[in-house]
Amino acid sequence: MDKILLPRPAQNVSRRQFLLGGAALIGAASLPDALAAGKACRPTEQDIIGPFYRFGAPFETRLAGPDESGERIAIAGTVYAADCRSPLPNALIEIWQANAAGVYDTSKPGNFTERHDFHLRAMMLTDQRGHYEFETVMPGRYPVPPGLPGLEKYAGLTRPAHIHFRVTETLHVPLTTQLYFQGDPHIAKDPFAGHKHGLAIALRSDAGLLRGRFDIVLARG
Ligand SMILES: [Fe+2]
Repeated sequence: MDKILLPRPAQNVSRRQFLLGGAALIGAASLPDALAAGKACRPTEQDIIGPFYRFGAPFETRLAGPDESGERIAIAGTVYAADCRSPLPNALIEIWQANAAGVYDTSKPGNFTERHDFHLRAMMLTDQRGHYEFETVMPGRYPVPPGLPGLEKYAGLTRPAHIHFRVTETLHVPLTTQLYFQGDPHIAKDPFAGHKHGLAIALRSDAGLLRGRFDIVLARG
């Protein structure tokens, strides 16, 4: 996929510009991207759970071992209450994804009983500031498998690269969604991602990693 690189900061800035920039950064760090950009406060959009969800992945924040092929990415963000301002500590985040070749650790859609090790799946809790972060590899694109109940008409359609999320917290509505990456040419024709622009994030290159920020707002329970 195409890399999306953010513009570099200007080299020569005045003290006032620097302070203003710092204030903007601080503000951005305490508000979801959508609010920082002046958009309305809304819960994060939902997306389908897909056929490859499995419960019980290990708690960890580094999904890919050193032998895992693929471009290294790091995703971080904050989980907010419905006011888009109050961070939610101890929210449970489950993530699962395909490997760089577009293959999941299960090839049996919808079969939640088969037993084998979890791979490229994890759970984590947000910290006291509502923050989470994990490292993994860029997931590969894959075609929708044939014969999925309700999704038969999409069989063979290449899905954009994505990471699945499920976020649950005591007093809010559980969220099932998917994270996409800006610049992916398969987003526009995807029936799930095509009209959910808030789910596609930009990535920036940083010390051998591609980093992205995905803030999440849960609906009130
Ligand atoms: Fe998927």
